Order: sequence, then structure tokens, then C-alpha cells
Amino acid sequence: MYKLWCALISVVCLFSTKVHLLENGLARTPPMGWLAWERFRCNTDCKNDPENCISENLFRTMTDILVAEGYRDVGYEYINVDDCWLERERDLNGRLVPDRKRFPSGMKELSNYVHSKNLKFGIYQDFGNYTCAGYPGILGYLQVDADTFASWDVDYVKLDGCYAHPTEMDRGYPEFGYYLNITGRPMVYSCSWPVYQIYAGMSPNFSSIIQHCNLWRNFDDIQDSWESVQSIIDYYGNNQDIITPNAGPGHWNDPDMLIIGNFGLSYEQSKAQMAIWAILAAPLLMSVDLRTIRPEYKAILQNRKIIAVDQDPLGIQGRRIYKHKGIEIWSRPIVPLYQNYFSYAIVFLNRRTDGTPSDVAVTLKELGLVSPTGYRVEDLYEDVDYGVLTPQTKIKVKVNPSGVVILRADVQTDYPKKIFYPSSTTLRTTYRPLNQVFRVRENGFSFP
Ligand SMILES: *[C@@H]1O[C@H](CO)[C@@H](O)[C@H](O)[C@H]1NC(C)=O
Ligand SMILES: *[C@@H]1O[C@H](CO)[C@@H](O)[C@H](O)[C@H]1NC(C)=O
Ligand SMILES: *[C@@H]1O[C@H](CO)[C@@H](O)[C@H](O)[C@H]1NC(C)=O
Repeated sequence: MYKLWCALISVVCLFSTKVHLLENGLARTPPMGWLAWERFRCNTDCKNDPENCISENLFRTMTDILVAEGYRDVGYEYINVDDCWLERERDLNGRLVPDRKRFPSGMKELSNYVHSKNLKFGIYQDFGNYTCAGYPGILGYLQVDADTFASWDVDYVKLDGCYAHPTEMDRGYPEFGYYLNITGRPMVYSCSWPVYQIYAGMSPNFSSIIQHCNLWRNFDDIQDSWESVQSIIDYYGNNQDIITPNAGPGHWNDPDMLIIGNFGLSYEQSKAQMAIWAILAAPLLMSVDLRTIRPEYKAILQNRKIIAVDQDPLGIQGRRIYKHKGIEIWSRPIVPLYQNYFSYAIVFLNRRTDGTPSDVAVTLKELGLVSPTGYRVEDLYEDVDYGVLTPQTKIKVKVNPSGVVILRADVQTDYPKKIFYPSSTTLRTTYRPLNQVFRVRENGFSFP
């Protein structure tokens, strides 16, 4: 009865219901897939550039490769359209129309094709009068567009924030989420709500954002450069006290796409992006030409051990626990758990550019790994198994310039068949992020 009444008076009820998190059952781990934007942008010139323009052909091709080349098998499941898929005008009923030349079969057909390959289909709209590239935005058509997406069997909607008033987003993003919900079709809801508010000098209301969105952008669009990747890493590190607690199953911070395999990142830098994104519990949305990606970059994107860190079921976002003289250490609590002890993924990131690998030496205890039962430690890129180490063991890694070493430390247990999995909320309180726990010697990067 309450629901029916709510449906009638619509959005007012959003503020009277006692929902604390968006519970549409989706994105229990960070979404993984392929997204057109960073690599293919708003290329609409199918006449001169038919292979690279935003068209149904491009998305079908990427769908095929996701399946044929093993990406689907390691977890990449969404094929996501971004901006520039629309005609400039809605139809006479106010419905969105895909570009007739570039998407001649229509979005339902494309969605069917993606589904026929056991993948999921994502689309893009904007909470404004126009999309960022100037196509019809959603204002005035929130319910029409939600219904249209549902009728096309869309699985994921990214709602951008150009040509909109940031002050209206606290009302508008939940309102569109409400319309998505009442279609009855589960759709992942990706919001750009906080980043546009931050740009406008506002403090986003994260307790509301995590109630209404499955993922959201906090910071700038990623560009094809190490500089851009570093600026994102810095933003997430510098603001982690605000950002990190908002992540969890069903609701994620989105530091933007993986640009691995494009033009701007070296091999080492690509490994760094993948490792840090896994620590951040980030959505893994590749934006790369899968037709031409070199094998070593494909191997990074398909590294199952790092994907497992990203997709860890506890869904606790990791943090930067050390930063000094160009060396950073990032840490994320993961399963398995033993009593009150987590396992951890640890990333050593070398921001230095002095051209020679830096040694970092640290005991497990200094990293916060204190279970007396010890940890089994392995390197996730190099396939090195360090065996079981005690908290007192000092480990030493060599980190390449603008590169990483990523380790996984699985806590050991006396009762391997009865691993204790308390809920992430009870455990979160026992995770005390460390700050500046190491002292760095001037003559190198070893910690006493
Ligand atoms: C969107 O367009 C309407 C109608 O022209 C206008 O009243 C409103 O201010 C516009 N909103 C934004 C965010 O520009
Ligand atoms: C709609 O919201 C309700 C309440 O949060 C939830 O139980 C349901 O799964 C949602 N349905 C869809 C299709 O998102
Ligand atoms: C933030 O959102 C929550 C949940 O919608 C609401 O209860 C609270 O009043 C909001 N806080 C502010 C400062 O607007």
C-alpha cells in the first residue's frame, strides 16, 4: 500500500522511506566491462572512419572480442555505450532515438546481440538539458527515458552531469533512480553526482549518494597519460578519509576507466593502474581498442589474481598507508579472515623517476599484518610465492620507476576448514588504517 501510494506521489517518498543503501541486488562487486569513451570519444564520422566511429558496429565488434579473447571468462561483462549515440532530437512521443545512420538496427537489437553473448548492455544519458556532447539530456523526460531503457533491456545506466545545476542533483539523481526502480528491470546506476558538486564547490551528501547509486564519480575524467592516472591516485589518497568509507557491496567509488593498452601509459605504468584500481575496489571498465591491444597489456587486464583482489567479496576499499619521497604503500583488507585478522593486498608504488628500481624493505607487522598465525605471501604479477611469513619477517621488494609490486598476504589459520567470515560492517571497525608507520632512511628506501 505504501509503495503504491509512493508511486503515485513519486519522488517525495524517496525522502520518507528508510532505505540506507541502494538495494537493487546489483554490483555486489565492482562492475567490470568495456566502455567506449576514453578511447573512442565522440567520433561520429562513420563515413571516413567506419572502424572507429561510435556505431553499433563498434559495440558488436567489442562484444565479440570480449568473448573470443577471454575477457568475459575473467569477469568483464558489461558493454557500455557512452555519449554520442543519439539523434539530435527526440521523437514525437518524446522518446530518445539512436542515431539512425550509426545505429540502424536500434538499441534493442544491439542489446539483444550483447545478451546473446552472455554479456550485459550499458547506456549513457545526462542529468541536464543536454549530454556533455550536446545531445538531448534527460530533464523533463526522467520517467520516459527510464522506461525506454527498460524496454531496450538495458542493464546499466551512466547518468552524466553536464548542462545541469549541481544544486538540483540531490533531488534529481534519486528521482531518476526511483524511475529506474519502478520499471522493475534491475539496472546498475552510475552517477556523476558528486564530481559535479565538487566542481561547484559543494560538499556532496555521500550518505544520500550511497543510498541511490551503485557507483559514482568523484574526480576528473581520466585522460591518456600517466599524469592523469597519478592525479587520480593522489586525489583518492589525499581524500581517502572521506571517500573510502562510502564503498561496499552494491555501491562503489569510480576513479574512471582503465586506459591500459592505449597510447599514454608505459608497461610499468599500466601495471600500476591495474594494481591501484584493485586496491581502490574500482569498477574495471576498459576503454581500449581490443582489436589492436598488445599481448602484454591484455595480460595485465586479464590478470586473474589482481582481478580477484578488485572483486574481493568484503568490498572494503583500500587506502594509502605510507607516502614518502616518491614511495607509496597502499593496502586493502580482503578475505580470507581468521578471527579478527584480515588478509591483505599490498601495493608498493614507486613515483620516482630517477631511473633505477627502489628497494623497499618492511616487516609485515609494520604493514599492520599482525596475526600470530602468519601470512602466506605471493607476488601477483611475478608469480613468486614467498611462503608463510610471520609478522616479524622483513620483506624486501624492488619497485621499478613509475611501477608497482603487488603482493597478496593470506592470513593463515589453524583450522583451515572453518574460516570465519564475519560481516564486513562488524569488521570494518577493527581495521585501523595506519598513518606514517615507517621511518625512511635517507640513503635508500628501507624501513627500520
Ligand atoms: C533547462 O532548460 C529549461 C527550459 O529551457 C530551463 O528552464 C532550465 O534552466 C535549464 N536547466 C539548465 C540546468 O540549464
Ligand atoms: C526497487 O527498490 C526496492 C527497494 O529498495 C528493491 O527491493 C528492488 O529490488 C528494486 N527493484 C529494482 C528493479 O531495482
Ligand atoms: C543527506 O542525505 C540524507 C539521506 O537522504 C538526509 O537524511 C540528510 O538530511 C542529508 N544531509 C544534508 C546535509 O543535506
